[in-house]
Amino acid sequence: MAKDRFGRNIHYLRISLTDRCNLRCVYCMPEDMTFRPNAELMQDDEILTLTRLFANLGIDKIRLTGGEPTLRKNVVEIVRGISETEGIKSVSMTTNGLLLSRLAQPLADAGLERVNISIDTLEPEKFKRLTRWGKVNEVLEGINAAEDAGLTPVKLNAVIVTGYNESDVVPLAGLTQEHPWQVRFIEMMPFAGATEFQLTQTVTAAQVQKEVEDAYGTLEVVNNGKLDGEARLFKIKDGIGDVGFISSVTSPFCASCTRARLTADGILRMCLLREKEIDLLTPLRAGASMEELRELILEAVWMKPWGHGLADGTIPLNRTMSEIGG
Ligand code: 5AD
Ligand code: SF4
Repeated sequence: MAKDRFGRNIHYLRISLTDRCNLRCVYCMPEDMTFRPNAELMQDDEILTLTRLFANLGIDKIRLTGGEPTLRKNVVEIVRGISETEGIKSVSMTTNGLLLSRLAQPLADAGLERVNISIDTLEPEKFKRLTRWGKVNEVLEGINAAEDAGLTPVKLNAVIVTGYNESDVVPLAGLTQEHPWQVRFIEMMPFAGATEFQLTQTVTAAQVQKEVEDAYGTLEVVNNGKLDGEARLFKIKDGIGDVGFISSVTSPFCASCTRARLTADGILRMCLLREKEIDLLTPLRAGASMEELRELILEAVWMKPWGHGLADGTIPLNRTMSEIGG
């Protein structure tokens, strides 16, 4: 198991399959975003080579991200390859859900275990404004397809943005009264691309929780308050799903972070919110041995930053969220 110098076991890798997206969420990227040429991205065999290497170092959990991972050509085959890799126990995906009606079943058949689907509002007009052109119905169909395919428990991610969807907190949380879903409210974080917006339009997890409790009464703590991944979980009284709060900005979970990220262009990033990157794809293409790559990864893991610096105003500006992989 690869350990960092603070004793955290790094066993969870998020792999971005593409920086492209079929939406342009206002808090994620500018409308005229430019994407990387395909040749700069890891090719399928390179993804699998690096996955094997990471699995050898003790990575057992993989999440596929983007941009939008379902836009990646051969995504089903990539999922199959990763889930068949020795040592990998679980493969999940974070997606905007638009293409799941078609892909949920093939992905499940290929070994995908679960999906997290982003949905910030249930109202068509607001969804369109937030995503710049998305149709919320397609996401809802995607959620159903994911459930039908057994990609469960389905987790839904919502970012609450001042002036866009504050009044959606209550209906989104209310979904858990009727569905066994986990609805997680994520605090907006600042990156390049939409920084000004991300710094001024934030709503804190505490504010969201207060709104939920004003509507549904005091929430019941789930799991004795133990974090589920990065979320603190609660239940609305008699609810069948969970409501989660991910307070990355106001109450970071860095001390228990066990993850690393591999960007679509093959760069290892040990903290979402720190700019430091370790290029793995260039040496892989230059013929580095597996032993040399292994050393690079172990060194990067060892040097994983203790935590992010948002509290003292340090914002990562070298990539947008979609170029890192959320
Ligand atoms: N802050 C917090 N979450 C974000 N996401 C995208 N941009 C941001 C941001 N600036 C979320 C998406 C998706 C996940 C990959 O990250 O809503 O659920
Ligand atoms: Fe696409 Fe997700 Fe970014 Fe929205 S948040 S633009 S769906 S990558």
